[in-house]
Amino acid sequence: MKNRNALLFGATGGIGEAICQELCAQDFDCYLIGRSAEKLNQLKKKFRLPPEHIFCSASMTTPAGYIQTRKWLESLNQTFPVAVHAAGQGMVRRASKISLEEWQAMMDINLNSAFAFFKLSWEFRADNRFELVYFGSASVDQVWPKNSLYGASKAGLEMFAKSLQKEIRPDGGRVWLYKPGSVRTGFFNGLPNHIPPEKMMDPRLIAKLVVDNLQSDQAIYFPEIPILSE
Ligand SMILES: NC(=O)c1ccc[n+]([C@@H]2O[C@H](COP(=O)([O-])OP(=O)(O)OC[C@H]3O[C@@H](n4cnc5c(N)ncnc54)[C@H](OP(=O)(O)O)[C@@H]3O)[C@@H](O)[C@H]2O)c1
Repeated sequence: MKNRNALLFGATGGIGEAICQELCAQDFDCYLIGRSAEKLNQLKKKFRLPPEHIFCSASMTTPAGYIQTRKWLESLNQTFPVAVHAAGQGMVRRASKISLEEWQAMMDINLNSAFAFFKLSWEFRADNRFELVYFGSASVDQVWPKNSLYGASKAGLEMFAKSLQKEIRPDGGRVWLYKPGSVRTGFFNGLPNHIPPEKMMDPRLIAKLVVDNLQSDQAIYFPEIPILSE
């Protein structure tokens, strides 16, 4: 891959930061979008990124947030063969205990932002090559109580990613939908989980897999990849 620009949303999280680290190790130029200026600045320092490589936006799904993010991308005068969406939130709660606001907020980050991120990164994609990475969830392959909201958001993402894959393939696009089981990140802070942290997957292993895969020959075409530890 000659153009080694990578656009990341969610690099301030456990999986996203591990992917950013692996991309930097493999000589990619990372550009990060996040909602926390403080965390983005820490990553800028850690990965020695130029200041224009980070962009802070409270949300990319509001009209103003979308336009500002687009303006930042335009100002860079760059194209991106790689785009990674690693932002999301979890919830383990009965539907009867979820408020309308909580439902909408989680759908917004887990599903709506995936669409907004696609639109933005597609507009600034590299010629003839576009690798788009999403994180679904292994939890949607079985039905669990207390997973209605998270499960619905990830099932929606899955259908979006699969359909999108068919749409963009003729133009050199490829969508990667990873469906991990439990990964050792801050994702489980405050969430009940039956798997102890030592049995969860290391985000660095997932990052290596993701970054190696996206450089594979485009004849290799995987719509979805479950990654389970046991
Ligand atoms: N960890 C797992 O076991 C697991 C399993 C299956 C799928 N996944 C999926 O993998 C992705 C990454 O998860 P992770 O484990 O890295 O989680 P994490 O460590 O909790 O990181 C979550 C990331 O999402 C961002 N984010 C959350 N809500 C946001 C909002 N409203 N607006 C903007 N950014 C927001 C966070 O930003 P801040 O840093 O600013 O909070 C952070 O960058 C998620 O989509 C998750 O559903 C994770």
